[in-house]
Amino acid sequence: MSYLGFTRSICRHYLSQIEFPKILEIGVDKGQTAIPIIQNLSCTRRQFMYTGVDIRLSKDLLEQLGQFESVTVSWHDDLSDRAVILFEDNSLEWLKNNQEAPIEFDLVLVDGDHNYHTVLNELNLIQNLIKPSTLIVCDDYQGRYSEKDMFYSERDEYKNIELATPRINSEKSGIKNAVNDFVNTSKLDWKVDVFGPGDPCFLYRSEYLKIQANPPPDTLLRDMDIFFEIKKESPPGFRNSFF
Ligand SMILES: C[S@@+](CC[C@H](N)C(=O)[O-])C[C@H]1O[C@@H](n2cnc3c(N)ncnc32)[C@H](O)[C@@H]1O
Repeated sequence: MSYLGFTRSICRHYLSQIEFPKILEIGVDKGQTAIPIIQNLSCTRRQFMYTGVDIRLSKDLLEQLGQFESVTVSWHDDLSDRAVILFEDNSLEWLKNNQEAPIEFDLVLVDGDHNYHTVLNELNLIQNLIKPSTLIVCDDYQGRYSEKDMFYSERDEYKNIELATPRINSEKSGIKNAVNDFVNTSKLDWKVDVFGPGDPCFLYRSEYLKIQANPPPDTLLRDMDIFFEIKKESPPGFRNSFF
């Protein structure tokens, strides 16, 4: 899946409240989400940082992004005002290697490998790289892989991609179980919302972020307006106080 249909809403109603928004997308693919996010932010923000991690980065995407006016695209860390940083890496490795990084992402899009093992571990690692008001969106929470595992390493087109995670069978399967187990075992008070019959879930801490959507029944996520209110600013150095 991709987040087509609600990236503008997230940019317009959530990222617009943040002076220097920092986004992490796990699973970039062809940039169906990355491109509209970067376009929206480059029109509205003096500073932003988009970080994408994928086991197979698209060369076409790099070419396309390289043509964006005043956006710096890099394969490595870059401190320019409007930075797009792409990593060809396995999400779990990347997250483990960046646990001490001085980054606090405002928006994390989880859409890489679609299985219980990966998503549960990703969420546990992401928890150290975010603010209290951060929004995490997990794709396919309600979809095909809600209660079923899929490993990209088993797809034909990925058979030569060494970064892909080989199958690991867990006691449970699927993204919904991973998200729910993460929420139930986390020391933090996470709330999970789904809006309409769409795939993703929104994961956030209601003490810090308010999300509102009142769509008529069966409205698709892409057709609804979702409103966000950052209720409390994150205290400086909050990360160390969590653990
Ligand atoms: C469904 S696509 C992502 C779609 C994208 N988020 C969008 O909105 O258009 C899933 C992507 O995850 C990548 N992927 C699979 N396993 C991964 C892992 N462990 N770490 C990082 N990326 C992974 C695949 O290469 C694929 O490009």
